[in-house]
Amino acid sequence: MDKNQSSTIYTGDIVAEQIDPNKEYTTENQEIIFSEEQHAIWADLFDGIHKPYLLEHLCSEYNQGLELLQLDPDHIPTVKYLNERITPRSGWRIERTVVRYTLADDWYKKFANRTFLITDYLRTRDQMEFTPEPDMFHDIFGHLPFLTQKFYAEIEDKFAPAYMKATREEREIIKRLAWYSTEFGLVTQENRFKVFGAGIISGRKELTRTIMEFYRLGRDNVIDYTQDVYEQLYQHFLANKKNLHRIIDGVNSVHQKGQMSSADQGWNVVLSLYKNLGIKQEGIFGGEVIIAPFDIDMISRIPKTVYAFNPMLFVCESLAKMDELLESYLGPIAARN
Ligand SMILES: [Fe+2]
Repeated sequence: MDKNQSSTIYTGDIVAEQIDPNKEYTTENQEIIFSEEQHAIWADLFDGIHKPYLLEHLCSEYNQGLELLQLDPDHIPTVKYLNERITPRSGWRIERTVVRYTLADDWYKKFANRTFLITDYLRTRDQMEFTPEPDMFHDIFGHLPFLTQKFYAEIEDKFAPAYMKATREEREIIKRLAWYSTEFGLVTQENRFKVFGAGIISGRKELTRTIMEFYRLGRDNVIDYTQDVYEQLYQHFLANKKNLHRIIDGVNSVHQKGQMSSADQGWNVVLSLYKNLGIKQEGIFGGEVIIAPFDIDMISRIPKTVYAFNPMLFVCESLAKMDELLESYLGPIAARN
C-alpha cells in the first residue's frame, strides 16, 4: 500500500489490471476451447470437494442447485450450458470475462443487469489447495448452483442497487457484507452450522478448515449440538463482545500492514494477536477461525482479506434471516433518490 494513503480506506482490493479491451469477450464469442490438462484440473478440483462427507456440511439450497445444474465432473461447462440451466430458473445470465478480479464498480454494474461474470482463468496444478484469485472453478462450482435458486437471485439483487447509490464509506461496508455472506457466510439449518459462501465451498482447504471448527466447537464443549446451536453461539457472542472488538481492531491494524496476505502468515499473526491481547485460546477463541453470529455492526468493522485468511466467519440463523438483515442495511440505501 502507498504509505501516503494512510487517510484513505484500505480495502485490500487487488489493484486494477491493465486489460486490453480488445481481448474482452463479446456476446458472440463466449466459449473457450480448454486443453485436456485444464479439464483434468477441473475434474480433480470437482472430485476433491464432491464427497458425501463434505457436501453434508453445505446448506441444502446449494446441494439442490448442484443437482439441478448437473455439472459434468470431468469437463468445464460451456457458457451456453450454464445459461440454459440458470436463466429460466432465476432470470440471471452468465457472461465470460478476461478480468481476473473484477473491480467492484464494474462488477456491480453487471450485477444490476442480473449478469454474473465468470472469469476465463483456471488455477494451475500448484494452486489446487489455494488460489489467491477467484478462478472459474470458484465462480462456477461455488456460485452457480445457487443461481438456479430464486432466494439467491433475490439476495444478489439487493447488492447492486444499493452499491450504485452508496457513499464511498457505505460501499466498503457493502463489499464486506457481500464478502461475509455470499463469499464466506455460514447458516444454521437443521440445528447445525452449514456452509453457504462460495469462497469456502470452492476451496477444499477452506472448506475442511471450516468443518473442523464445527467439530471443534462440539469437542471443546463450546456448543452442545443437542441444544439450540444458534442461541448458544449468540450467548457466546454477547459474553465476548468486548474481546471480539479488540481482536477486530487488531486484525485491522495488521491487515493495514499487509500481514494477513497468506493463510500461514495470517494464522500466525492472529495467534500472536491473541497473545498480545491476553486472550486465552479457548472457548470461541480456541480454533483457527472465530465463528460469530452475522452482525452488521461487527462485519462493518472487519476487513475483507481477499482470499487470504479469514480470522472470523459469520452465521445467519436462516437464509430468510440473512435476507432480512441484508435488506435492513441495503434497502434504505437503494431507496434513495
Ligand atoms: Fe465469488
